[in-house]
Amino acid sequence: MRKKGSKEIRKTHYRNFDHTFSLVKAKNSPWGSFFDLKSGQFYKQFVAENGKTIILRSLKWEDLNNAVAYVNALAIESEQDQDFGVPVEKQTLESEARWLADNLVKIEEGYLVSVVAELDGMIVGSTEVERGSRPVAKYHGILGISVAKEFRNLGIGFELMKTGIDECRKAGLRTIELRVFSNNSRAIHLYEKIGFNRAGVIPKKIHRNGKFLDEVTMAIEL
Ligand SMILES: CC(C)(COP(=O)(O)OP(=O)(O)OC[C@H]1O[C@@H](n2cnc3c(N)ncnc32)[C@H](O)[C@@H]1OP(=O)(O)O)[C@@H](O)C(=O)NCCC(=O)NCCS
Repeated sequence: MRKKGSKEIRKTHYRNFDHTFSLVKAKNSPWGSFFDLKSGQFYKQFVAENGKTIILRSLKWEDLNNAVAYVNALAIESEQDQDFGVPVEKQTLESEARWLADNLVKIEEGYLVSVVAELDGMIVGSTEVERGSRPVAKYHGILGISVAKEFRNLGIGFELMKTGIDECRKAGLRTIELRVFSNNSRAIHLYEKIGFNRAGVIPKKIHRNGKFLDEVTMAIEL
């Protein structure tokens, strides 16, 4: 099969996103016109502990190339460090485009709160909270977060989470849950500082490189 070029991949997924979005719009729903898109929305900017100004905003379609580079850097860390907190796999431009298009639709539909940390046009951190899709779980969200290696311990994770939680509150969520490996002391420290409490432990849930690891569930009430 002929390999698709980057432009073609962008076009296909943008068309899919555009099509889905026009269906969403057709429902006469509160998300309104194209001019009210939630993707790419600016939230705030702040100065990180390295003196650099970081912009916090939601994901947008133009993030595609940056998003591939970002996730693949995490994937390399995950390969090299068996204790790394996010077990991600390498992505292609095509798989990332599919992921991005799906997530942009979820953002517009109100199922995903996304906050990206941007520095000089590059993604240096990201958090997302996906709200429950079933009616009984619609006031609950599940959070994931990561910050690029060179930018950790600068307060970016803290600002991402604070902003993400504020946006979840505005979106009507009442509780947020996250899951973290029990040996990820930096992440657990940050989550407790933000106000998450330990809700339980699943012993030996994670199996990596022949080793079992406990997973901690943490939750916060908004
Ligand atoms: C976890 C992560 C998202 C935090 O983001 P960050 O930008 O580094 O976080 P911040 O700089 O805002 O805060 C880090 C805090 O942890 C503290 N810390 C650093 N190393 C620590 C350690 N080994 N043990 C305990 N606390 C630690 C820092 O001192 C800081 O706390 P303080 O502000 O009270 O001094 C980020 O480090 C990361 O992406 N790690 C790899 C991926 C990952 O583990 N993701 C979470 C999966 S559940």
